[in-house]
Amino acid sequence: MEETQEKKITHNEDDKLMIDHSYDGIQELDNRPPPWIMWLFYITVIWSALYGGYYHWFWQEEVSPQESEYQAELLAATEKQEKLKASNPEKYSFDETKITLFSEAADLDAGKALYAAKGCVACHGNLGEGNAVGPNLTDEAWLNGNTPADVFKVIKHGNPAKGMMAYKDQMTNDEIQKLTSWILVSLKGSNPPNAKAPQGN
Ligand code: HEC
Repeated sequence: MEETQEKKITHNEDDKLMIDHSYDGIQELDNRPPPWIMWLFYITVIWSALYGGYYHWFWQEEVSPQESEYQAELLAATEKQEKLKASNPEKYSFDETKITLFSEAADLDAGKALYAAKGCVACHGNLGEGNAVGPNLTDEAWLNGNTPADVFKVIKHGNPAKGMMAYKDQMTNDEIQKLTSWILVSLKGSNPPNAKAPQGN
């Protein structure tokens, strides 16, 4: 058995392919890969030359196809965004620069209801007197300013680093505006018992 194996290797075509080295008697044939894999290789080489030429070396336009495609998508998205903003200015274009305080009792009552419903009481007390977590909202001292815009902004965007969360996903601008109005018109100066010492200025 061993003999025939030996013969097979030394007496046929494989002879020519034998590589001239031996590792502890183990030898190696220099077989060519099958044609299909060679073709795959040639085709990828040709393809890379065509691709590089078309996209990198000989492209004459200022912007590449990818770039112009991106610009077109960006433009479409911007247009869509503008349309969306125009469709609902209350939601998308309103910010603290446009805020005015409500003075109607119905709006102030709505603000008061939101104060309880949204859990503000947990950190600012039932009467806005403040507690171990949140500051007093009834006094003249404010950490973040006392203009309607300041208060609106702190409710909408919060001050997460200091423990005041943002409410922009839980309330509409209109609701935040009502809440702001109630705080500044009704709550401020109400002098509740057990008020927390003033913080800020
Ligand atoms: C998890 C506790 C917590 C909850 C809930 C919370 N706040 Fe606050 N709030 C704070 C803390 C803490 C601060 C102080 C932030 C700082 O130091 O700037 C603060 C600050 C504020 C301020 C600014 C006060 C100032 O002196 O500048 C306002 C106004 C305010 N909160 C309103 C609200 C309203 C309205 C709600 C409910 C919608 C609410 N907060 C819910 C903790 C809370």
